[in-house]
Amino acid sequence: METKNKVSLITGASRGIGRAIAIRLAREGSHVAINYVKNKDKAEKVAREAEALGVKVRIYRADVSDFKSVQSMVEQVMTDFGRIDILVNNAGIMPEHHSILDIPVEEWSRVIKINLTGYFNVTKAVVPYMIKNNSGKIINIASVAGKMGGTVGPHYAASKAGIIGMTFSLAQELLKYNITVNAIAPGPIETELITNLPEELKNRIKKRVPMGRFGKPEEVAEAVIFLIKCDYVTGEVIDVNGGYYMD
Ligand SMILES: NC(=O)c1ccc[n+]([C@@H]2O[C@H](COP(=O)([O-])OP(=O)(O)OC[C@H]3O[C@@H](n4cnc5c(N)ncnc54)[C@H](OP(=O)(O)O)[C@@H]3O)[C@@H](O)[C@H]2O)c1
Repeated sequence: METKNKVSLITGASRGIGRAIAIRLAREGSHVAINYVKNKDKAEKVAREAEALGVKVRIYRADVSDFKSVQSMVEQVMTDFGRIDILVNNAGIMPEHHSILDIPVEEWSRVIKINLTGYFNVTKAVVPYMIKNNSGKIINIASVAGKMGGTVGPHYAASKAGIIGMTFSLAQELLKYNITVNAIAPGPIETELITNLPEELKNRIKKRVPMGRFGKPEEVAEAVIFLIKCDYVTGEVIDVNGGYYMD
């Protein structure tokens, strides 16, 4: 699919990877709907940057874990833009606790509700419009943790593994409507999600990357563009991780 004059909805686009994806899509000529939950000022800043690239931009507050709020956001995007061609599910949180010995049951539920159910909610609200157009691209930002666990914790890894399973299932179901569904599994990417981690954990994660550095949000955005433009890819997980699996 060409990106020019398409409409993209990106969840969690006020910061980090979502912000880089929104800006890159705007640079590629796509109009962008920017979702956030708390940081309106940051979402507005991203919107100004994207608008300066000559496309139409709107921001939408919605908690992806709340289906009603997601539904009103998607209806508003439809009113404002008239269509949604590209959905990037990206909004996610990093848990506070990392060991099963410390993780409160409520934290398990919260991580699954935002990181996994959130992706389901937004996809469920958007897909009927894509089916009507017989066209769509869905890209789910998963994580290396969804394929191999890791130090962040079982709840985070389970949410990301769930996204990968959901991607495979939806790719099969939605193929007949000309909708492709793929995931990206980034390794550690330099955003607040990583920079806010304890120093010791951050160093342990960095040492694990063969390239010896954290990735840049723009490097994930590059993979998003590939998955939009290459129509012959569906039901895939693209790894963007500095060679993580070579070790
Ligand atoms: N950074 C990494 O190393 C890394 C690696 C692999 C995968 N990922 C995944 O990539 C995605 C983005 O990560 P990031 O590093 O860019 O994170 P980030 O910098 O912490 O940004 C998180 C974004 O998600 C939004 N958000 C959080 N909870 C939300 C909710 N309930 N409803 C709607 N929006 C919500 C935030 O909005 P507000 O600003 O309004 O709070 C923000 O825009 C996540 O799914 C993460 O798991 C990240």
